[in-house]
Formats: sequence, structure tokens, C-alpha cells
Amino acid sequence: MDISFSREPDNTFIVRLGGNWNIVDGLPSSEQLQKQIGSTPFPERVAFDTRELGAWDSSLLTFLIKLTNFCRGKSVPISYQGLPEGVARLIDLASAVPEKEDARKESGRAPFLSRVGETTLEAVKSAGEVPASGDLSARTGVASKQENPEEMMRVLDEMAEALRRREEQLRVSEAKYRLLVEQIPAVTYTAVLDVQSTTTYISPQIESLLGYRQSEWLTDPNLWLNSICLEDRPRVLEALAQTQATGKPLDCEYRMIRSSGSLVWVRDEAVVVRDGDHQSPYLHGIMRDITERKDFEHSLEQLNRSLRKTVEGTILAMSFTVESRDPYTAGHQKRVSDIALAIAENMDLSREEMEGIRVGGLIHDMGKIAVPAEILSKPGRLNEHEFALIKDHAQTGFDILKSIELPWPVAQIAYQHHERLDGSGYPRNLKGDEIIMEARIIAVADVIEAMASHRPYRPALGLDKALEEIHINRGVLFDAEAVDACLKLFKEKNYTLEI
Ligand SMILES: [Fe+2]
Repeated sequence: MDISFSREPDNTFIVRLGGNWNIVDGLPSSEQLQKQIGSTPFPERVAFDTRELGAWDSSLLTFLIKLTNFCRGKSVPISYQGLPEGVARLIDLASAVPEKEDARKESGRAPFLSRVGETTLEAVKSAGEVPASGDLSARTGVASKQENPEEMMRVLDEMAEALRRREEQLRVSEAKYRLLVEQIPAVTYTAVLDVQSTTTYISPQIESLLGYRQSEWLTDPNLWLNSICLEDRPRVLEALAQTQATGKPLDCEYRMIRSSGSLVWVRDEAVVVRDGDHQSPYLHGIMRDITERKDFEHSLEQLNRSLRKTVEGTILAMSFTVESRDPYTAGHQKRVSDIALAIAENMDLSREEMEGIRVGGLIHDMGKIAVPAEILSKPGRLNEHEFALIKDHAQTGFDILKSIELPWPVAQIAYQHHERLDGSGYPRNLKGDEIIMEARIIAVADVIEAMASHRPYRPALGLDKALEEIHINRGVLFDAEAVDACLKLFKEKNYTLEI
């Protein structure tokens, strides 16, 4: 607390109060005041300047009342600078009460000053919000004008009681809030919304989260940034800049380094708060330890990867099994899968759809496992019965694959890859959109690969013939978009078939 007394040339005595006032600083005695103010000549007016005060409490109010009372006794005009109007009025009223301690003791009423001494500045400031205080002020004013000290004392006592109740409410509310903040399994904080995100409050849980004490965190403005894992720092700063620019909440997951050097994953969520007590916006946030969740997610990812590998291995094994029975068509499904995927990449499909086409291509002829090997590799023309057996592979493929739970429609791909847009395909003569998009793409790739390859019953027809075939039947037998993507692939992108 700083207190200074000065006398201006116009004989105004100025009492300047600065710094942080606390009751432990004590109050100057009447003698000390008399010594400071009462030197000859006595000042013509007295001014209190509280503009430089930081924090202060009710002991200052008591002191100001004492000073005002002293000046009043000397009939010197008083002015206040920087004091809230309500507080100045309260001081004015309180100091106007004659000292009648004995009478008050007799009436059993607690002295106003001792009661007001228990109040806080916040309670005094909010006195205007206490429902009856408007009446009280008015009545106090009336009592003052009527020079009725007894009535005024009663009113002031009521006012002090209202303030005391308000203070109690605040105290209970603050205790509840503190209990909540300090018991939840997370760190709460308030930080200035700047690049460093300078922390102005941090709850004690920071010690169990990162191993730093509250005081360490608050005195080192760089500790937050320096504790963020280097790799994650640009991402966090980007998120903070976004929040700064847009005012939208911050929600970021990143790794922090504990004081012990170990890593901890945190989820940092904060909202931007603007209020009158803060010059610039600040962040009110919560940081939670999500290491366990991250570890779980990581092991889940690993499991997923390993499962995908297993599925991939199984699919390839199935693919080889079918083709092992017909050496002439070895590699057919793999090549169809490659062409179909390349077509799909030119068709603006999702990653999952493309993956379905790739996997579906690898086992689209799965049903051939049930076709006798001698028919599959028969060098001459097939008779009607043999051809019917070959055609069965679409249905058989579906029957085999339908019970396998996969994230892609591979059973339908096997079922529909010989269907044609005009309904001339098999086994169900599906038309147009009845055929799934994946099967329409596989159909184009299948025809290209088959025509460009050697077969036991005929030599290779060649790629040009194959491309001509799909071009002629674009929109008739084959999906127009898939045909366009396929032609583009071979004619513009120089895709080559490795037969
Ligand atoms: Fe087929």
C-alpha cells in the first residue's frame, strides 16, 4: 500500500492512495492524520485520489470514513477522485454519523463501522444491486437531511446487514466454485489470448498432469509453449491463431512433456471470453489427460491394420486358388483388379469405393472354383452345356462370398460382373442402374483384359480390338462413364497391360 500526502499551491490537501491495500497494512491513527493534515494553515479543501489503487478491501473503506470524518470536524470541503459513486456516498453518509458509541452499545446494535469492516469491496460495489438498498439510500439521505442520527444509524445498520448477507453469498458461491474447479479430474485455466497464451490462472491439478506447481506455471510465461511436444507445436499454434482470428472455441489434442520428461497426451478445449474486467479477450479452458484414450486408439489402429493385412492375404489366397485350376488365365483377376482401379481413379470415387473395386476385382471369378478344370482349359469351342456351367460361376461366386462379412460389396461384384446395361448379360439380365457401379467398372476391365489376352480356344485379339469393343458398346452394354475413363486411361495416360 502506498499513501502520500501533498499540499497544492491553492491550499488543497491531496491524499493519494496507490498499490494494493490490505487490512494487514493497518490504519493511520487520528494523531497521525492530525499531524499530516492539520499543520498550519489548515487546508481549504481535501481531495482523496484513489485512481492508482489496484486491489483494496473494506479496511480502506473504514480508513476513508475516518479521514472524511476528521475533515468534516474541521468543516473542510472534501472531494473524491477515482472512487465509485456509490462508495463515495456511503463514506459521506457514514462519516456524517455523530460518534455515539455508548448509545449504540446500550441499544444492543452493532456499530456500523465494525460491520462494514467485514464487507469486501465487491459487496460494497454491488450494494446497488441489493434489492432494498435503493430505498435505504433514499431513506438515509432523508434521515441525513432531517439530521436524525438515530434513524440514519438504523438505516445504515440495515444496509450493512444487506452487504454482509451479500458477502456471505459470494463467499459460499466462491467456495463452491473453487471446490468444483479443484476437484474435477482436469486442469482449468485462464489465459490471455496472445501468441504465448500467457496463463493468468491455472488450477492445482496442473501438478498431477505435468508435474509443475501452480506458481511455476504462472511465473513462467513460456512454460505452456515450451512444454508442447516440438512436433505438435506448429499445429497447436495454428489452432490458437484460428481461435484468435475467428473467436471460435479452441479444441486441440497434442502431446506435452512432463517435468519428468515423459509424454502426456492432452485435449485442450477453451472458449474465448470477453468481459468488462479484461482489456483484451482471454481464453477460459480445460485440459484433460487423454493418454489412455490415445494409447487405446493406437492399439485399435494397429489391430485394424493387422486385420486388413489378414483380409488382403485371404483374398489373394482365394484369388490364387481359383486361378491355380486354370493356368491359362493365371493373373487375370489381378490384372482386372489393376485396370478397374485405374478406371475408378479417373471417376472421382471415394477411397472406400476404390478399395472395394480393387478387392472385388481380385476375386470376381471366385465361382470358377466350381467349374470343372477341363472345361476351364478346354482348347476348342464350348458346347451349350459347357457354356452354361461356365456361366454358373457368377451365381456360385456370389454364394461363396455372400456370407463373408467385408466392408465392400464383393459378393455383388462377383454376381453382377457379366450383366450388361441393356439386360443381355447373365445370370439375372439386370439392366442399367440395377447393376452396381463397382460391377459396371469390373465388367469393362474384364472385357479389356480377356480380349487382350490369349485363351486356350483363341489367340489374343489385341488391346485395340478390345478398346474398340467397349467404345462401340459405350452406353449400350457398358457404362458410358467407365468406358470414357478406360479409353482415357489407355489413349491419354499411356496405361499399359502386362499380359
Ligand atoms: Fe467372369
